[in-house]
Amino acid sequence: MRLFFALWPDAGVRSLIADAAAGLRLSGAARPVPRENYHLTLAFVGEVPSSSLAVLQQIGRSQREPACTVSLEAYEHWREPRVVVAVARETPAALTLLSTRLRAALQDRAAEPPLRAHVTLARKVAQAPVPQAMSAIPWRATAFSLVSSDTSGQHAVYTVVDTWPLLDETPKP
Ligand code: 2AM
Repeated sequence: MRLFFALWPDAGVRSLIADAAAGLRLSGAARPVPRENYHLTLAFVGEVPSSSLAVLQQIGRSQREPACTVSLEAYEHWREPRVVVAVARETPAALTLLSTRLRAALQDRAAEPPLRAHVTLARKVAQAPVPQAMSAIPWRATAFSLVSSDTSGQHAVYTVVDTWPLLDETPKP
């Protein structure tokens, strides 16, 4: 199985991301990410035997980070992976911590650079698009998921395997 931990958008956020993607002017070769595939990767696991699933679910279940709001507010073209992403100018500390803890639990992912919260909007984008302003997307993250990825077809097919809540730390009256 190919797996990753991610924030999975609800229908409202998914629709705002789709609007942002639709506003992009891309060349013909670019491959827009299908809207059902939008996600914000926290930690990439990679190919693992299905016998590892229980350990990964235990890692997910044991996290204790608070809910937070991540604001996706700018388009960026990342040359080497040839993608256009919607990126947060500031990654909330709670998400950085969650990503760091997940990666640390995955051992060989611990050395990756800190999370830059983003959603990939299009792949195979060789040339940076004309700079455009993006309407900010405030994404209230109240849960995170373990997602499996089937990359055998033209587009990856993602399936949410399990979801855990982030902590609600709003003071109660
Ligand atoms: P992305 O969020 O920047 O698009 C599922 O495959 C997700 O995991 C992809 O959307 C991708 O990032 C991320 N991913 C894929 N391969 C990766 C790798 N080798 N290292 C880190 N992240 C990877």
